[in-house]
Amino acid sequence: MGDSSSRSLEAILLVGGQGTRLRPLTMSIPKPLLPTAGVPLLEHQLARAAAAGVRHVVFATAYRAEMFAESFGDGDRLGLEITYVTEDVPLGTGGAIRNASAALRSGPDDPVFILNGDIISGHDMTAQIAAHEKADAVVTLHLTTVEDPRRYGSVLTEADGRVKAFIEKSPTPITDQVNAGCYIFRRGVIDEIPAGRPVSVEYELFPKFLAESVPIIGHVDPAYWLDVGTPAAFVQCCCDLTLGRVRSPALPVQGVPALIGEGAVIAPDAQVAGGSTIGGGVLVASGAVVDGSVVMDGAEIAEEAKVSRSVVGRGARIGPGVVVEDAIVGDEAVVEAGNELRGGVRIWPRSVISDTSIRFSSDM
Ligand code: GDD
Ligand code: MG
Repeated sequence: MGDSSSRSLEAILLVGGQGTRLRPLTMSIPKPLLPTAGVPLLEHQLARAAAAGVRHVVFATAYRAEMFAESFGDGDRLGLEITYVTEDVPLGTGGAIRNASAALRSGPDDPVFILNGDIISGHDMTAQIAAHEKADAVVTLHLTTVEDPRRYGSVLTEADGRVKAFIEKSPTPITDQVNAGCYIFRRGVIDEIPAGRPVSVEYELFPKFLAESVPIIGHVDPAYWLDVGTPAAFVQCCCDLTLGRVRSPALPVQGVPALIGEGAVIAPDAQVAGGSTIGGGVLVASGAVVDGSVVMDGAEIAEEAKVSRSVVGRGARIGPGVVVEDAIVGDEAVVEAGNELRGGVRIWPRSVISDTSIRFSSDM
């Protein structure tokens, strides 16, 4: 066995979800294609997979399938070969894997990566393959630890790494060790997933495997990991990439206070920091502050406005003195002077928030 990059591994990428929790950002673009530090979210994961020896990636798409091909084409740019397989009706995670497997070329005993498409991770994929092969496992899951495991699959393991229980999205999780959404499946087992009907890996397949004592191994890697499922996580992901808190081979520059797009104009006395991304052609006027935020192409931040931990969509306009904190302003929306948007407020694309119509008060 040589070093992993000389191998020719295959992966199935699950990108058929709707990303509803990220609306309005995902109204015009699927979550995995959202720009993060200047490149589509997926690109970080694809570049990491390529570095770990993956050569062929099958995209399992359902929602806005054509946009993935527009972004990544045949994969050449990333040193990958990409095949697109589209479900007419979403088949769930397991059904999507089964459906996409028609495009695989691996033999029955070969390891195939299965990747959730909305993850940003620094974990060592080569070490995961090594663990899979050492244990002679049928399935090997990357596991990580989170503060609040209720939104994830919680996974209990034995001392030797063997998975004892997998419980998806429980209000009372059995452990804070969770499924990190990067699996290795022995190819032959994918062919045994029922075809032509929706199947969930998390609710149906893993519990069934465990009941049948199929060897599933948990591979714990505590590296940087984030599920980019909420607006706050999206902003965090973008800032962490810019600040270099997670390494991405897709980015030429990391570890800087901000990324400034082409043609952006930042007034000399404006402040842009905290890992913010400023898109192309953005204007940040005098006295404005943009901290730990994402300002997309063509947006305008007027004088003395303060934008923190927020997203300002393409072509949106934030008026003079406006406060935007932990909020999302949709594409081409206008927030006029006198408004304060805080605490998870989301403004839909092209809305106009007129003079002083939204203000937060601590007296309420
Ligand atoms: N092709 C296809 N078809 N893809 C799908 C479908 C489908 O019907 N349903 C979901 N997906 C894709 C999503 O696009 C995403 O990339 C991945 O499958 C997982 O779906 P999510 O909807 O993002 O699931 P989740 O985040 O709530 O939970 C999953 O990920 C967690 C880690 O982030 C589960 O696998 C959890 O167990 C896990 O902890
Ligand atoms: Mg997810």
